[in-house]
Amino acid sequence: KAYRETTLQLKHIIPLDFDSIHDLPESHEWATKDNLLSEKRDVLSIPVIDLNALDATELIRNACQKWGMFHLINHGIPLSLVEEAEEHARRLFGLPVERKLKALRSPSGATGYGVARISQFFSKLMWHEGFTIMGSAVEHAKELWPDEYEEFCDTMDNYQKKMKSLAYKILLVILKALEVDDQNQDQEMNICAPSSEGALQLNSYPCCPNPNRAIGLAPHTDSLLLTILHQNNTNGLQIFQEGIGWVPVPPVSGALVVNMGDLMHIISNASIPTVYHRVVPNETQHRFSIAYFYGPPTDSVIAPLSKFQIPCFRPVTLNEYISLKSKHLEKALPLLRI
Ligand code: SIN
Ligand code: FE2
Repeated sequence: KAYRETTLQLKHIIPLDFDSIHDLPESHEWATKDNLLSEKRDVLSIPVIDLNALDATELIRNACQKWGMFHLINHGIPLSLVEEAEEHARRLFGLPVERKLKALRSPSGATGYGVARISQFFSKLMWHEGFTIMGSAVEHAKELWPDEYEEFCDTMDNYQKKMKSLAYKILLVILKALEVDDQNQDQEMNICAPSSEGALQLNSYPCCPNPNRAIGLAPHTDSLLLTILHQNNTNGLQIFQEGIGWVPVPPVSGALVVNMGDLMHIISNASIPTVYHRVVPNETQHRFSIAYFYGPPTDSVIAPLSKFQIPCFRPVTLNEYISLKSKHLEKALPLLRI
């Protein structure tokens, strides 16, 4: 029954149609249509940061506080691995629908093919299809490619492993930027525990005949500490900036996008924003992206770092936060306010 329901939910993919999809509200017009934005284009670009630069910590601090996001170069992830992972994503989404449906994510499951992971928060569907990997992808990959699933799994495992160590490295830089001292070691170690959780999300946004009538991925914030995103050479990602509107995040060759999530907002005592972002569809180009989400173990307690003497959020376990968010979406953070 669950399988049939999800199949019905997915019928818009065969082919995508406008009746069931998430409308693009008026206020969410392309930011590039905004005069203000074109005047301020120079000031409004998300910074590109070299992880090996001497002043990387300072640059990351500024970018995190101003944007909650930056492009990262010299990140140490081989371009060949990123290209290989993208190629697998292209092959996966290019499979016939019947085959992809064999690898559906079950309603209670974490890994598999399906609608956007954030779809549970929205009543309408999006111009998007996804494949989530949490833990092993073997079982689902066997359904996709009975004879050559190992190659897919090896690439994804390798990609996740490298992303996890990069995310850890970035987290340490951010903690340094927040001037976390030895006193906070215990809490810091908890956040950086080796059993930290990660998940990979492969995204596909096929060309959309009328991009003004659809949303690729509805506006949302990411829940965990930080997200590392590879986007192919196709526009679509935008972030919302107060007083400005939707700012495009065009792909930068060889760079990965790093964006802050809700948990980072909590541990930084609201000094780092969580990024409200969305993806708009494209009329002529097919967008692919790969997001790696990084967070602490699910039973960890999340609270503002102890260096902040007047915490503005109450402590919460990650599990508790996730269920709060699935009920209240963007209202979940205000509920934790002290
Ligand atoms: C996201 O996961 O929110 C962004 C996905 C994308 O940029 O395509
Ligand atoms: Fe996201």
